[in-house]
Amino acid sequence: MARMAVTMAALTMVALLRGAEATRFIVGGNMGWTTNVNYTVWAQDKHFYNGDWLFFVYDRNQMNVLEVNSTDYASCNSDNPITNWTRGAGRDVVPLNVTRPYYFISGKGFCYGGMKLAVKVENPPPPPVASPLNGAPPSIYRGTIILPTVFAIGAMWDAFVWVW
Ligand SMILES: *[C@@H]1O[C@H](CO)[C@@H](O)[C@H](O)[C@H]1NC(C)=O
Ligand SMILES: *[C@@H]1O[C@H](CO)[C@@H](O)[C@H](O)[C@H]1NC(C)=O
Ligand SMILES: *[C@@H]1O[C@H](CO)[C@@H](O)[C@H](O)[C@H]1NC(C)=O
Ligand SMILES: *[C@@H]1O[C@H](CO)[C@@H](O)[C@H](O)[C@H]1NC(C)=O
Repeated sequence: MARMAVTMAALTMVALLRGAEATRFIVGGNMGWTTNVNYTVWAQDKHFYNGDWLFFVYDRNQMNVLEVNSTDYASCNSDNPITNWTRGAGRDVVPLNVTRPYYFISGKGFCYGGMKLAVKVENPPPPPVASPLNGAPPSIYRGTIILPTVFAIGAMWDAFVWVW
């Protein structure tokens, strides 16, 4: 029990410290970039922050990944892509490195069936404020100071509490 509580505390701390880290999204989750996935639904519960990445995994013999503007996204026009992200392996990585909306479609007719993705890239949220310590040192030092404390307390608990 004690061990578990300490582990949870340590993990929570790590999660907080990782707050500002970039996320790599596999577009469509385990379905990937394909037909019969509603990418509006896939994207709607996610936050995309500047510095995150999109990873398109798909059948390289059929689909592709084109970044287009909002007009061409709406009409599925693949004639004037802003960026052709297709590299040929069916594994394309797109850095979301500008805070703006991004629009992706597959050409070759698949966009008409719903193979289109719009994401709104936002500025990353500010790093979490350290509530346990008032006047905490800058976040870069937080891990080095708090984590040893957590582990030290954990070691004490382990020494005295052996109830599971
Ligand atoms: C998208 O690009 C097309 C073709 O270049 C252009 O006609 C259209 O106005 C553009 N739409 C936007 C919203 O910029
Ligand atoms: C996109 O780039 C790939 C690889 O260079 C190329 O084979 C393909 O024809 C391009 N597609 C479009 C629509 O420009
Ligand atoms: C974003 O990434 C693209 C592709 O790697 C690159 O060409 C572009 O310069 C980058 N833009 C910024 C603002 O970093
Ligand atoms: C995806 O789902 C949204 C919300 O339910 C719906 O408005 C939209 O028409 C769907 N798109 C496709 C291509 O089915």
